[in-house]
Amino acid sequence: MAASIIDVENLTVSYGNRPALLDINFSIGPQQLIGIIGPNGSGKSTLLKTLLGFIKPDFGKIKIYGEPLARNEGRIAYVPQRSAVDWDFPITVQEVAMMGRYQYIPWWKEASARDYEIVEQAMKTVRVLDLSKHQIGELSGGQQQRVFMARALAQQSSILLLDEPFAGVDAATERAILDVLKSAKESGKTLIVVHHDLTTAAEYFDQLILIKQRLYAFGSPKIVLQEELLHQVYEGKLRIFSDIVISKKG
Ligand SMILES: Nc1ncnc2c1ncn2[C@@H]1O[C@H](COP(=O)(O)OP(=O)(O)O)[C@@H](O)[C@H]1O
Ligand SMILES: [Mg+2]
Repeated sequence: MAASIIDVENLTVSYGNRPALLDINFSIGPQQLIGIIGPNGSGKSTLLKTLLGFIKPDFGKIKIYGEPLARNEGRIAYVPQRSAVDWDFPITVQEVAMMGRYQYIPWWKEASARDYEIVEQAMKTVRVLDLSKHQIGELSGGQQQRVFMARALAQQSSILLLDEPFAGVDAATERAILDVLKSAKESGKTLIVVHHDLTTAAEYFDQLILIKQRLYAFGSPKIVLQEELLHQVYEGKLRIFSDIVISKKG
């Protein structure tokens, strides 16, 4: 068995005195495409932000490559939820993608030819190179999503976290984004993706993390998409139930 690259142990996170995550445990190996599922407000975004070190846990440990999170700052790339970004901020597509290189460029230096090359390649991969001079506010939702993926790819991290990358994009863009995620995985990366659409979860991901404050299940879609578990977590909120359930108990 390959060593795990992300270890989460007894993780508990709260906002003020309201717990958002309670006693979460899991380990993730290299080269995995992982989906996080759970209803609204279940702590999915909080889990990503905690893995990035943006939120300090109340309790528990996160290890990246066997080392404390603090030693890995900047080694994890992040695509935030589109609704969390200020799209009026005056910045071009190329400038956003170049932000993926900032951690490698000393403050007294300009971006190098190599940085420009990496950024151009990242923009090409997600097909936004022809938009590079455009302001991000002018773009469609799917294009904005891809620009932030370019930034994440330019960071050349082996771990990528994406928060609902398929939200509000059309079917063709969803396919294109999925292809980029899959080829990133093929190239050796581990990706953790918050996903809101249970009907595609089994097709898209190798493993699923089902949370609602607590971890309800972790493993292959077959293990996670069980009728009983989904009932527990989503209660009455699932309408198209029979399409989603892969396995029943017993
Ligand atoms: N900055 C914040 N301050 C206070 N409470 C928050 C904050 N962010 C999220 N929460 C609360 O924490 C819980 C989990 O939120 P979140 O991680 O955003 O869930 P999800 O991404 O699954 O929808 C929710 O109850 C939400 O209201
Ligand atoms: Mg969220």
